[in-house]
Order: sequence, then C-alpha cells, then structure tokens
Amino acid sequence: MIKETKQSVHSNKRTPLLLLALVILLTCFQSGLVAKEKTYPTLERGAEVFKQRCTLCHGSQGMGEGRIPLKIKSYPDTNIVNASKAKTKDDIHNTIVYGGLLEGIDKYMPPMGDELTWTEIESVAMFVFALRQDPEKHLALLRAKSDQTVSSSLGRDTYSARCVLCHGKNGLGDGRMSKIIKSPPPFNLTVSAVPAEYIKLIVSKGGKELGRSEQMPPWGDQLSEDEINAVTEYLISIRE
Ligand code: HEC
Ligand code: HEC
Repeated sequence: MIKETKQSVHSNKRTPLLLLALVILLTCFQSGLVAKEKTYPTLERGAEVFKQRCTLCHGSQGMGEGRIPLKIKSYPDTNIVNASKAKTKDDIHNTIVYGGLLEGIDKYMPPMGDELTWTEIESVAMFVFALRQDPEKHLALLRAKSDQTVSSSLGRDTYSARCVLCHGKNGLGDGRMSKIIKSPPPFNLTVSAVPAEYIKLIVSKGGKELGRSEQMPPWGDQLSEDEINAVTEYLISIRE
C-alpha cells in the first residue's frame, strides 16, 4: 500500500514535465525547427533537384550548356527547354526514370530511377515541364536555389550531387561517366594522397589549371567555400 502511494506521488510530479516537453516538441515541428522530409512534389524541390542533378549535362539555364556537352563534341543536344521527345509531364517523369533505356532517347541520358525518390523525380519533372511553359519565371526559381545555404551533411550531399557521376558512389572512380572519360579516368579518390589544400585547389579551379586532365571540371563558380571545404573533408574521410 505504502509503495503504491509513493509511486503515484512520483508520477504526479512528472506529468507536468512530460506535458511541457510534448508542447515544446509540437511547437518545434510546427515552426519547422525539426526538419520534416517533404513527401509531396513541389516546384521548389524540383528546382533544387535540377540544380544538383541535371545542370552538368542540361546546363544551368537548361539550354544544353552543361559542362559535359560543351567538352565532348559529339555529345547529343541537351537543350531541355526546346526539347520535344518527352512532351507531357508523365513523359518527362519516365525519361528521368528510364533515361537512355527508352527507345528514341540517347544512351547518355542516365536512368535515374534508382538514385532519386519518387518525390524528387516527380518534382523535377514538374519543374522541367513548367520551365518550358514559362522559362523566365522558373529560371528565377533556379537562381534563387543557388543562393540558398545547404544542410548539415554538406560534404556528403555535395559529393553525391556533383561528383558521383564520375568518381562513383564510393569514390572508386567508377561513376557512370567513367565509361566515356578514360585517359585519365576519374580518379579513385579512396587512394588519393594529396593534401587538403590541393583538393580545395583542384576542386575550385579544375584539372586543367593544375596541369591535370580538363575532364575534372572547375567548381569554383558553382560551389560555395563552405561546400568546397565540406566536400574536401568528406574526401579525406573516405580514404582507405
Ligand atoms: C550525364 C548527362 C545527363 C544528365 C546528368 C541528365 N541528362 Fe537528361 N538528357 C541527357 C541527354 C544526352 C539527353 C538527350 C537524349 C536524346 O536527345 O535522345 C537527355 C534528354 C533528357 C530529356 C528528354 C528531352 C526531350 O527531348 O524531351 C529529359 C526530359 C531529361 N533529359 C531530363 C533530365 C533531368 C530532369 C535530369 C536530372 C534529374 C537529367 N535529364 C540529367 C543527358 C543527361
Ligand atoms: C566529369 C567528370 C568529373 C566530375 C563530375 C568530377 N571529377 Fe574529379 N576528376 C575527374 C578526372 C577525370 C580526374 C583525374 C584528373 C587527372 O588525373 O588528371 C579527377 C580528379 C579529381 C581529384 C584529384 C585526386 C588526386 O588525388 O589527385 C580530386 C580531389 C577530385 N577529382 C575531386 C572531385 C570532386 C570533389 C568532385 C565534385 C565536386 C569531382 N571531382 C567531380 C573527373 C571528374
């Protein structure tokens, strides 16, 4: 009996504290302090995905002025604003999922169904569709994205958005583009031995400036200093 009384006194003391904690948590959620993963497609998210995953080939204006087509002469036209193979938003969605596996789509358009979530694919499909309807308005959205600061796992995020295509998911130099960039191939970053300062330099200025291959693009005008520092730390962390 005595024990029971003690217990109830105890829990009576705790209840208000628990309630308070709950209220604080709910307030944080509502004000967006606790990050909620958006599970529905938006144009904003689409612009973000486009900026990270598509500009290398389609260009930061979507006019096909990406780094890769500018470097490789025989590369197919990657202008996405005036393109007409994928007409509807659903066609665009499928092109992103299946890429060059689809009949009539060039093999250099990578199938991205495995790498992006449904929400990301649908968002970027909406974005491309909208970009064709009203280029000015949506290019402005894209530019706004470029100025935003990015999240905390900055190094890894920057790497997966910008470098995987050549250096591969685990840095082994076996990314998709390694099929066409061969001499030299994208560096196996897990066996890289250069100091951090050199990494920062080659990432911002590109290979050519340092007497290396021009296939290693300069990122200085696309990545912020924070992003370059973070991706440098990340590269050092994946060394063998
Ligand atoms: C490695 C380079 C590369 C990347 C990265 C890339 N694409 Fe492409 N994409 C291409 C090429 C090359 C074509 C041209 C295919 C053709 O004309 O047959 C293409 C074609 C397309 C088309 C069809 C254009 C039409 O004629 O209607 C769409 C839509 C498209 N890409 C969307 C995207 C989106 C969205 C992303 C980012 C999520 C993306 N692509 C990333 C290379 C790329
Ligand atoms: C279009 C393909 C491509 C992309 C994208 C790319 N790289 Fe490279 N990278 C290369 C190639 C090719 C080399 C080899 C250059 C050489 O050996 O002359 C290289 C070399 C490097 C090196 C030199 C390593 C060493 O030890 O000497 C670093 C560091 C590097 N890349 C980092 C990055 C980072 C970080 C990104 C993303 C922000 C990136 N790369 C994106 C193609 C690419």
